[in-house]
Amino acid sequence: MRKKVTIVGSGNVGATAAHWIASKELADVVLIDIIEGVPQGKGLDLLEAMPIEKRDSYIIGTNDYADTANSDIVVITAGIPRKPGMSRDDLLNTNHKIMKDVVSKAVQYSPNCILIIVSNPLDAMAQAAYKMSGFPRERVIGMAGVLDSARFRAFIADELKVSVENVTAFVLGGHGDTMVPLPRYSTVAGIPITELIAPERLAQLVQRTRDGGAEIVKYLKTGSAYYAPSAATTEMVEAILKDKKKILPCAVYLEGEYGIKGLFVGVPAKLGSKGIEQVIQIKLTSEEQAALNKSADAVKELVGVIGV
Ligand code: NAI
Ligand code: 2OP
Repeated sequence: MRKKVTIVGSGNVGATAAHWIASKELADVVLIDIIEGVPQGKGLDLLEAMPIEKRDSYIIGTNDYADTANSDIVVITAGIPRKPGMSRDDLLNTNHKIMKDVVSKAVQYSPNCILIIVSNPLDAMAQAAYKMSGFPRERVIGMAGVLDSARFRAFIADELKVSVENVTAFVLGGHGDTMVPLPRYSTVAGIPITELIAPERLAQLVQRTRDGGAEIVKYLKTGSAYYAPSAATTEMVEAILKDKKKILPCAVYLEGEYGIKGLFVGVPAKLGSKGIEQVIQIKLTSEEQAALNKSADAVKELVGVIGV
């Protein structure tokens, strides 16, 4: 039987994720949005692209959650994106209200699904969804680390003029200004980048990674990034649907790992058909642990405001 992925929010990230998922023939896709007509139009447009792409993914757009029933994965991208001058945290209250609306409906129709949360501020929205859904932590995952580390990888590959395929990178922590790119665990063909890039230049690439979202917002002016965010979401969807046991940086509800308890924070995790199958613990220096704690404190502050 074909897999079924629902994407809540048929805006820039949602529709582009539908595009990647359908064009890789990973699943049938249901696009749902509060706006009438837009998910239907985008869904039909994508369906009509399938003969050209030679893919048998079936795509529909809808405003009715009954159409999302029994999805294997529900990706939540519903919410407002930031505009120039706004931080991800400025979206907190509005997107929390939207999250309350969509999570209850989505899980009512797909009680066994895996939720992938994309809406910002990411870690706080993932925590809200986790609490609202009543799902075990294995089935509520936040997308941010794959995006943040892809940005870091792109900058490293560009700096060294090497294939992006040679570059692996790790970014831990919350999806915000306090995220923690880890040069020590980032490599080019297995060689630590600390051996290849001078410390001052590396510090600039780390900062550019932290500011990666804002850099795109500054160019776009009316919204935020969506190609890389939707590609990152699709990599997580693929890892789960194909039970790949792939280790990816994900926002996970920590239960003591890395000394953090009861909070969503980005850490390396093994993704497979059950969702989060293992949280990978790596040894951090005291400096890295302090940076991770600071990032967790920033998430804690936000979840405190919305009381989740
Ligand atoms: P967008 O404005 O293009 O799309 C959002 C969609 O959500 C709109 O179509 C809107 O009608 C829909 N929506 C709003 N309320 C809804 C409801 N109650 N039910 C169903 N749909 C509803 O925004 P975009 O660019 O797609 O971004 C979506 C969210 O993802 C934003 O919060 C953004 O900050 C976040 N984001 C997170 C990233 C991450 O790394 N975690 C990366 C990129 C974006
Ligand atoms: C980004 O990092 C807006 O969170 C989004 O591009």
